[in-house]
Amino acid sequence: MTDRISEQSRQHIREKIGELREHQISETVQQIIEFNKTPVDIKAYIDKFVVGQEKGKKVIATAIAFHYRRLGTALKQTIGENGEDIGVALRNTRTPKANILMIGPTGCGKTYTGEMASRLVGVPFGIQDLTKFSEVGYVGQNVSDILVDLLISAGGNPHVAQMGIVYLDEIDKIATELVVYKDVSGRGVQKGLLKLVEGAENTIDLGKERISLSTRHVLFIAGGVYENLDSIVKNRMAKHGLEGDWKDYLLADDLVAYGMERQLMGRFPVRVVYDPLTVQDLKDIMIKSDDSPLRAYVNDLKTWGIDLTFTEDALTEVAQRAGHEGTGARGLISILHRVLCEDMYQLPGTYTGEVVVDKTHLLERLR
Ligand SMILES: Nc1ncnc2c1ncn2[C@@H]1O[C@H](COP(=O)(O)OP(=O)(O)OP(=O)(O)O)[C@@H](O)[C@H]1O
Ligand SMILES: [Mg+2]
Repeated sequence: MTDRISEQSRQHIREKIGELREHQISETVQQIIEFNKTPVDIKAYIDKFVVGQEKGKKVIATAIAFHYRRLGTALKQTIGENGEDIGVALRNTRTPKANILMIGPTGCGKTYTGEMASRLVGVPFGIQDLTKFSEVGYVGQNVSDILVDLLISAGGNPHVAQMGIVYLDEIDKIATELVVYKDVSGRGVQKGLLKLVEGAENTIDLGKERISLSTRHVLFIAGGVYENLDSIVKNRMAKHGLEGDWKDYLLADDLVAYGMERQLMGRFPVRVVYDPLTVQDLKDIMIKSDDSPLRAYVNDLKTWGIDLTFTEDALTEVAQRAGHEGTGARGLISILHRVLCEDMYQLPGTYTGEVVVDKTHLLERLR
């Protein structure tokens, strides 16, 4: 497929390519060829950031480890046979790939997991918001824009781009409406993604030059909330007298019933369902996650000589309130901000020493 892109994007890509072309076999390529992270290694790394979701994290870590191990091994072989040309090696390497579909409530760590895993593997990670494609027509967005973004996140190096991860966010929003007279553009968008996700040879037209970019080795991770998908599965289970956790019974049929194209779902063979975060998970995110929003505030205040601590019951209260917000871990940030806003304004420069936020203090701030 060949598509035209804006002059601004072209200029941006030209600059990036100029900087990096001379390093054809880049660090990333070498890293993939020598890829030796096990699923356990990848999960251990994700665990540092993503709290809970034990089962899902295992499936994702395994899928990612096998994808890159397979690609690395195949590249090593073809480069040996073909005399070190990475472009030829990428073209000649055929590996079946297993794209991943992540389902779960908002703010529970879907995108975050993909981002952290790609960081460990050392490949570019690009996020595409599929709602941009959801109205009638493509609203200025088309599939080649996904490739352009991937190329930019790979620093302009097409070989590196071809080994990256693309996260397709809000994939549930391109489900076809079941009501006939409503907009059915979701189907068109889903069809448009088929080739890309499976692996197609694409050409990006930059005016003076054209860049070939295959998505054959790109790992696609799609994420969506799929509200009420559980009731579709549960109804089917009831019809067939099945009992147990609906997540263990999820089939492509249920996603098709939701409005997804069967062909597209077939290209995401690895399915992961993330759970809503519990109050304990939310507390752990504040206490244990390497990216804890609370720790960020603590560190900020420390630079002003202020030692901030929260009591146990205050942490529980924050977690409970965040749970009620229904926005997953994102709720923590807004509540912590409301609790600390006044102190963050008043204290720097006027006070040094301890600040203990207990439940009484917290309730006062949240009144
Ligand atoms: N399980 C978790 N452990 C630690 N932090 C988390 C977790 N879930 C979410 N977060 C925090 O909340 C932020 C938002 O999460 P994320 O972007 O992964 O949401 P999402 O599941 O993709 O939701 P959406 O469906 O709205 O896109 C993350 O950047 C992270 O800081
Ligand atoms: Mg997301």
